Amino acid sequence: MRLGVLTGGGDCPGLNAVIRAVVRKSVLHYGHAIVGFRDGWRGPLEGDTIELDLDSTRGILPRGGTILRSSRTNPFKRDDGPDAIRATFERLGIDGLIAIGGEDTLGVANRLHAEHGLPVLGVPKTIDNDLGGTEMTFGFDTAVQVATDAIDRLHTTAESHNRVLVLEVMGRHAGWIALHSGIAGGADVILVPERPVDLEQVCEAIQVRHRRGSFFSIVVVAEGALLAEGPEAVGDQTDEFGHARLGGIGDRIGREIERRTGYETRTTVLGHIQRGGTPTAFDRVLATRFGVAAIDAADARRWGTMPALRAGRIELVELAEAVASLRTVSEADYEVAESMIGLPRSGGHTANMASGGSPAP
Ligand code: F6P
Repeated sequence: MRLGVLTGGGDCPGLNAVIRAVVRKSVLHYGHAIVGFRDGWRGPLEGDTIELDLDSTRGILPRGGTILRSSRTNPFKRDDGPDAIRATFERLGIDGLIAIGGEDTLGVANRLHAEHGLPVLGVPKTIDNDLGGTEMTFGFDTAVQVATDAIDRLHTTAESHNRVLVLEVMGRHAGWIALHSGIAGGADVILVPERPVDLEQVCEAIQVRHRRGSFFSIVVVAEGALLAEGPEAVGDQTDEFGHARLGGIGDRIGREIERRTGYETRTTVLGHIQRGGTPTAFDRVLATRFGVAAIDAADARRWGTMPALRAGRIELVELAEAVASLRTVSEADYEVAESMIGLPRSGGHTANMASGGSPAP
């Protein structure tokens, strides 16, 4: 067989590990040829390829980013998108394509297969960890580790200066990075998109800490968090999938905390630092397992599927199922963070708060 592979959407630690696994299992076990498409869906749209073999994928396992590069190109923004991809497959003799990506890339893969009959399967990737169908995506563990390191570092400055330090992390629709790094880093307030942010409660949590003698606080907020008192104005820039460019909620919350409490507050936006660089060992292993399962699925012509992590095992699930809904933080998922709350519950639920009242870990 002659199989294609592409990486779409935001880059993510572990993409190269998937590419390497696909190539190695393919070449060493099946004898299939692997063609890399450059820049996400732009590659198959325009027929922009590179041959992938053992030599060209040597040494990439620990490297962040993607040797195929990535883009947020959406083939369905063009009337002839699916036909152009079909034509590329025919011209280059491609028997099937492995698309590595998140909700948008895999949404395209699903439509190309379900609506246009193209031989495509997916591999789940996103640091946000919000893809349906799988319990985890690769890249998430690395992002959480980077964010946790940042919280540890912010703790020392917060303590030294008696400041409130706000850390804005990624997480467009789901607060997984904020939740896990917040728990791991012992954050005092954790704000996620799934729960509207009540600023009065946030300030109260911080004031309670002060009254107890902890004159600093760490607030972790996911970029997609929304204020209960009204939606944040987001920029007018959107990508080809209609997603607005986020950023700014941390700053807004930091300014409000300072204004309402009088405590000196600063905000740090972690940004792409949490998406770049070398993957953790966990992500390298998960990415490799997904890559092996993807090439096995391609060999078996299981188009329209995706390897997923379920109860510790890799299983093939339908792409349609995976992209049907996002996996967001539930009340039960948030419970551990909430258990760290030192505040008495006031009125309604203590939305979005985990106040441990503890010193830096
Ligand atoms: O990949 C998802 C994500 O990490 C989101 O959390 C974030 O909003 C987005 O990528 C940022 O993408 P870009 O690099 O295109 O600004």
